[in-house]
Amino acid sequence: MGLSTEGLTFAYPESEPALKGLSLDFSRGNVVGLLGANGCGKSTLFMNLLGVLKPQSGQVCWQGRPIGYGKAALGQLRRRVAMVFQEPEQQIFYTDVVSDIAFALRNLGVEEAEISRRIDEALTLVDGQSLRDKPVQYLSHGQKKRVAIAGALVMQADFLLLDEPTAGLDPTGRRQMIVLLGRILAQGKHVVISSHDIDLIYEVCDYLYVLDRGELVAQGSAPQVLLDQAVLDRAGLVQPWLVKLHTELGLPLYPNEAALFAAHGRKLEAV
Ligand SMILES: Nc1ncnc2c1ncn2[C@@H]1O[C@H](COP(=O)(O)OP(=O)(O)O)[C@@H](O)[C@H]1O
Ligand SMILES: [Mg+2]
Repeated sequence: MGLSTEGLTFAYPESEPALKGLSLDFSRGNVVGLLGANGCGKSTLFMNLLGVLKPQSGQVCWQGRPIGYGKAALGQLRRRVAMVFQEPEQQIFYTDVVSDIAFALRNLGVEEAEISRRIDEALTLVDGQSLRDKPVQYLSHGQKKRVAIAGALVMQADFLLLDEPTAGLDPTGRRQMIVLLGRILAQGKHVVISSHDIDLIYEVCDYLYVLDRGELVAQGSAPQVLLDQAVLDRAGLVQPWLVKLHTELGLPLYPNEAALFAAHGRKLEAV
């Protein structure tokens, strides 16, 4: 058990509900994907999961119990659940990388030696040791994103919420992000990814929830959901390219590009 919601409904002031009666269990996979077009409510859901926004009805649960909204309860929650915002600027406040990452830990009263140890470990994991002393303003978008992830990793939370982790990244940055995700998973963490990057979702997620205008329209394993053209149409999404090769050309459903090339490489050698 871990992070879940029950009948969660949330509306911004004077608006139609942005999230409608969502019951989701983020322990259904090691990487749970939250999939949907722009404006379907992904970021709003993450803010509810962190307790930044409070649902009008239903609840967010941690270990099966509704979360509290007092300062102490939220402090506890955020040691277990950490979020990486879509825009690194939303969570990077300091001018240099190390102070920025250290900020939340100092707030929690973690001792300096432990802070340095955690920062060192997190920067290594995100391939960010060379960024250590750089002013944040000179970092590229991808580098800022990696610093933001390091900032979440040092919290040592069990659940990491990544809001559109590949948005705005170039192809190399996107590849690096996938490698980084693999390392985070190897540490035994649960990851929740919100994205409309359908190929990313297909490649990395093992359970999916699909949202359309705040409503849950499908859930299941990635192949199960992404083979359902009606669901994708309704949610304004297209099939991942590896799924298209399967549905349009009758190729096996390969889990990733490497598997496709490995299989066909072997065939060519046999000719
Ligand atoms: N601060 C806000 N005030 C009012 N409406 C908002 C606010 N933020 C988002 N919305 C609306 O809530 C809905 C969901 O938005 P959002 O959660 O940002 O979607 P996504 O992250 O999937 O793109 C959209 O209709 C959006 O316009
Ligand atoms: Mg968003």
